[in-house]
Amino acid sequence: MKRMDVGILGGTGMVGQHFIRFLQGHPWFNLTWLGASDRSAGKKLKDATSWRLDGDIPSLAAEIVVSDSKPSASAPRLVFSAMDASVATEIEREFAQAGHIIVSNSRNHRMELDVPLIVPEVNPGHLALVRAQQQSRGWKGMIVTNPNCSTVVLTMALAPLVPFGIEKVIVATLQSISGAGYPGVASMDILANVVPYIGSEEEKMEQETQKILGTLANGSVKPLAARVSAHCNRVAVIDGHVITTSIELSKKPSIADVQAAIENFQGVPQQRKLPSAPSKPLTYLPQSDRPQPRRDAMRENGMGVTVGRVRECPVLDVKLVACGHNTIRGAAGAAVLNAELMASEGLFD
Ligand SMILES: NC(=O)c1ccc[n+]([C@@H]2O[C@H](COP(=O)([O-])OP(=O)(O)OC[C@H]3O[C@@H](n4cnc5c(N)ncnc54)[C@H](OP(=O)(O)O)[C@@H]3O)[C@@H](O)[C@H]2O)c1
Repeated sequence: MKRMDVGILGGTGMVGQHFIRFLQGHPWFNLTWLGASDRSAGKKLKDATSWRLDGDIPSLAAEIVVSDSKPSASAPRLVFSAMDASVATEIEREFAQAGHIIVSNSRNHRMELDVPLIVPEVNPGHLALVRAQQQSRGWKGMIVTNPNCSTVVLTMALAPLVPFGIEKVIVATLQSISGAGYPGVASMDILANVVPYIGSEEEKMEQETQKILGTLANGSVKPLAARVSAHCNRVAVIDGHVITTSIELSKKPSIADVQAAIENFQGVPQQRKLPSAPSKPLTYLPQSDRPQPRRDAMRENGMGVTVGRVRECPVLDVKLVACGHNTIRGAAGAAVLNAELMASEGLFD
């Protein structure tokens, strides 16, 4: 298969750099184009940005001359987006209107009724929304989104429990500082500390979870009726978000049944062997002190979610802990897996 040229809007930013690294050597996608602000346009990537990730700036990407963020013939049809949220709404829309396929990591369009918000293992069928999107907006292109980094971890852990009837979810997060971009939270605020507030994160987590776990019927998503309550905290960890959650389940499964459902969970990306799909989307660890971000966030190249401590909850029914890599599974890797799912559905043909 000939590799498809792809671009990144917001390619000079923190998430943009994660995209660049994640796309190195990708078997289906070939990075040829980067878009950013006028501050960077016209410069080679290596001169437009400071490389903030481990290792050197990938040599092929380093030489790409950054474009401005306007649709043009030089921009490939498939463009990932890691744009600053303050400008993503209009720019992503302009690209989709001009025929580009935007696979976005930004929050701006996620909750629009005709925009798929996808975790490929959880709700691949919601991709069908793009047809309604193209029809109602008269677009040749489209916008597809992935959720917020903490929501990916929560929905992956909840997906195997959907058949047990999810009624209530209470979740607390311990979110790493890389989730706030660069430079993120000031070191004086986060070192040896916990900050119990992340702007609009709790609302995003509650609403996005209901949309992702909702059901598609008659061309729209009916959100999951379950009530979801999130407490979001920033902690002094570099990479990897941990969530602790209690869940009420209408079918009252045994703890062994819940553990088995998590251990045996597989999705469409695994069936189709998509290039970035983890072989096991969920790994259950029986040790009482796992998962931990330093030990578990990089499982399956950062694309797997690790679950542990599944046990009875005296208030709701079941409680557990989950951990996932926020900038890989929760950002760049999530969007690339979405694009692989879209390719496997023939959406780029
Ligand atoms: N950090 C995370 O872990 C994380 C996780 C999930 C989602 N997100 C979301 O991903 C997006 C990017 O986050 P980030 O941390 O990578 O931010 P960032 O480092 O500040 O990067 C922002 C990018 O947007 C570009 N940009 C800014 N203003 C622009 C304009 N007026 N026109 C065109 N491009 C413009 C910047 O280009 P210049 O370099 O030229 O200024 C840069 O490439 C945000 O929407 C964020 O909410 C982040």
